[in-house]
Amino acid sequence: MTTITDTDVLSRVGNTSLVKLDSLSHNNIEYFAKLEGNNPFGSVKDRAAYWMIKDGEERGILKKGKSIIIEPTSGNTGIALTGIANVLGYKVEIVIPEKVSNETKEIIRNLGAKVFETSDDLCPKVGAGTDQSIALATSIASSRPDTYYSPNQYANEANFRGHYEGTGPEIWKQTEGKVTHFFTGVGTGGTITGIGTFLKEKNPNVKIIGCQPQQNHLIQGWRNFEESAKPDLFLKREHVVDDWVSVDNDEAFSVVKEVFEKEKLLISPSSAAVYACMKKYPIEGDACVVGIFADDGRKFRSVYATQNVMTEEEFDNTLKEAKHMSELAY
Ligand SMILES: Cc1ncc(COP(=O)(O)O)c(C=O)c1O
Repeated sequence: MTTITDTDVLSRVGNTSLVKLDSLSHNNIEYFAKLEGNNPFGSVKDRAAYWMIKDGEERGILKKGKSIIIEPTSGNTGIALTGIANVLGYKVEIVIPEKVSNETKEIIRNLGAKVFETSDDLCPKVGAGTDQSIALATSIASSRPDTYYSPNQYANEANFRGHYEGTGPEIWKQTEGKVTHFFTGVGTGGTITGIGTFLKEKNPNVKIIGCQPQQNHLIQGWRNFEESAKPDLFLKREHVVDDWVSVDNDEAFSVVKEVFEKEKLLISPSSAAVYACMKKYPIEGDACVVGIFADDGRKFRSVYATQNVMTEEEFDNTLKEAKHMSELAY
């Protein structure tokens, strides 16, 4: 646990770095990664968690010392909600699919949340009546509606607003309005619709490109729309997406080492999937391309060993040499 103060932690949500990817940039096309792992609890989800908790407070639903926040999540939202709720004085209960990496579950437990595991696939399957994480969270919350508050990131407008008012304007400013293409994966759709809506208001020609993982994928935080329904938050503004690129597990895992060797970045599976999509998507003429690297690689030691990406020893050496690994608040 670091010694940074509570207010420091909250002031560090957002304003993440945008770094140039020399390994992809060529001729008149520049590629950039927005490093969301630089958020205090290590992912893009710090933004959604912070905005949803603040919104709950402003609407008088969350009461300090009384309310318990409960949420079904595949990982990063659990870490972010628990970390931020701790700082603001709320208890948290997280319902998580057991397939999520042990490192992620450990972080959530160490941050102080009560964790319930279900035997779901990696992502809660919104809309599929069989999803156990969502069913369990709903059933616990309905037992004491005056105490429990579920932000429900899949439909919460504050999740969208965090990106529409935060990440989108940051990208516009960091690229000096030059961004022409934007790539990200979709979990709730908050990131792609929030940033996409903002960028298109600034320049309707900006292309918003969604990355789709294979069915039965291993990309924590993403969803494949053939095996899982589209969340309400995404459906509301899905028209902002101009194009989709598919990416399978092998394509994603195969670039992790390459990106370390060429960029000295230790990236997560979803960042690897974005990198692989940017690498294969055909773009002509002058362009400024931005991809979301939603978290960094440090939670994926065991996943990378199991998937034969690198041994645990190689991982530890990589971590020592990796650039842009900011200090996390846990
Ligand atoms: C690990 C991870 N979590 C979450 C997201 C995005 O989530 P959402 O669509 O819920 O904003 C991404 C998107 O790239 C991601 O890579």
